[in-house]
Amino acid sequence: MFGARYLIRALRPCSSAPCPRHKPSARLSVRDALGAQNTKGERVKVQGWIRSVRSQKEVLFLHINDGSSLESLQVVADSSFDSRELAFGSSVEVQGQLVKSPSKKQDVELKAEKIEVVGNCDAKAFPFKYKERHPLEYLRQYPHLRCRTNALGSILRVRSEATAAIHSFFKDSGFVHIHTPIITSNDCEGAGELFQVEPSSKIKVPEKNFFNVPAFLTVSGQLHLEVMSGAFTQVFTFGPTFRAENSQSRRHLAEFYMVEAEISFVESLQDLMQVMEGLFKTATMTVLSNCPEDVELCHKFIAPGQKIRTYAKKQLFNWGVDLHTEHEKYLVKHCGNIPVFVINYPLALKPFYMRDNEDGPQHTVAAADLLVPGVGELFGGSLREERFHLLEQRLARSGLTEAYQWYLDLRRFGSVPHGGFGMGFERYLQCVLGIDNIKDVIPFPRFTHSCIL
Ligand code: 4AD
Ligand code: MG
Repeated sequence: MFGARYLIRALRPCSSAPCPRHKPSARLSVRDALGAQNTKGERVKVQGWIRSVRSQKEVLFLHINDGSSLESLQVVADSSFDSRELAFGSSVEVQGQLVKSPSKKQDVELKAEKIEVVGNCDAKAFPFKYKERHPLEYLRQYPHLRCRTNALGSILRVRSEATAAIHSFFKDSGFVHIHTPIITSNDCEGAGELFQVEPSSKIKVPEKNFFNVPAFLTVSGQLHLEVMSGAFTQVFTFGPTFRAENSQSRRHLAEFYMVEAEISFVESLQDLMQVMEGLFKTATMTVLSNCPEDVELCHKFIAPGQKIRTYAKKQLFNWGVDLHTEHEKYLVKHCGNIPVFVINYPLALKPFYMRDNEDGPQHTVAAADLLVPGVGELFGGSLREERFHLLEQRLARSGLTEAYQWYLDLRRFGSVPHGGFGMGFERYLQCVLGIDNIKDVIPFPRFTHSCIL
């Protein structure tokens, strides 16, 4: 084992790579090349895929994209470089001088000195055509190739940026990141939408179950976060979640990512809603300022008419039946197409862990869902029942007392008022980018009757 001082000493040599004898061209990403200031013909190397080829009498123009930005880098080459191999979709490595572009369309361009085709692309057989804007449904048929289009490129860059923004939000707010398990023996929501985990028949173990108990893919990390909130006052997790929902809807997946937080010593639903609101606003502001071109592409071409609206808060009380998509849509529209919190749901409709409001015949729990335009439910959250005797009664009514002794322990030993929430990450992206179908905001969608790749 290293002590911290030895670890630092051991790492030091890693940063001093041996000096090469000839100074090679610096490898630049397209994004860095496009952002270069005061270029004076520096020799650089850019690698990527050809997005367009335009051949003129004496000069050849290529546009190269490497996924680092929506914009491609213009390469200007002597027509002697022209070859059939330089086709839409081919991968290339270009070396040359980065210079100021005489055209107003771009600030810099790469004057090619060497162009090497790394991998040919048969443009005729390639399912995407140069200059064509293919609909997202068409792209969905090619999960192994669609990331090479502008549309998926932008969506996936925003996805990456939003992931980082969410982690930063929690880090900056003092939350501890917890890796909650993917395989679990509890069904958090009690909704029965579980995928069971067993070894394939070839490697069956003699016991009835591999883990001795039935095990499932997690439907939520909440209960594990609640364990952690007994030691850390603010925790979060952000990982894959699985639900065997028999749904082909445009807002359900069998595998999706969920952002979940749990906060101890929280007493009011308002405090919790403030964190939900803070997460939504902060992550969205970061995404808008870090990838404006990608967001604009989605708004302009994929979902025209969709705008990020100023966030306002209204409270609505609905009674009796559970909210279905149609109700959610109506509520959001009724409030002027803005995000809407719906709070205090009927106790009978919600899981055992939600805190009883003890409010008489219209018996409610302290729950708060956030509904957003175009998507419906984005966040689901609640205060948790921290009072031992009330929780014990609820568990008994659901026949869960034995299985949840460990959960009752959390209330036996230093229980605190606490609450938390979960936000569907794909639904968040749908909301921010105005993407109609959830299958277009995840790299490899999984849903009933479909698990391609
Ligand atoms: O409302 P849900 O079921 O809440 C929970 O799982 C809580 N245990 C979370 C917590 O309090 N820690 O799910 C949370 C969110 C929903 O509001 C929705 O945005 C998303 O997860 N979601 C789905 N997203 C895509 N596909 C599905 N099948 C989804 N099911 C839920
Ligand atoms: Mg919910």
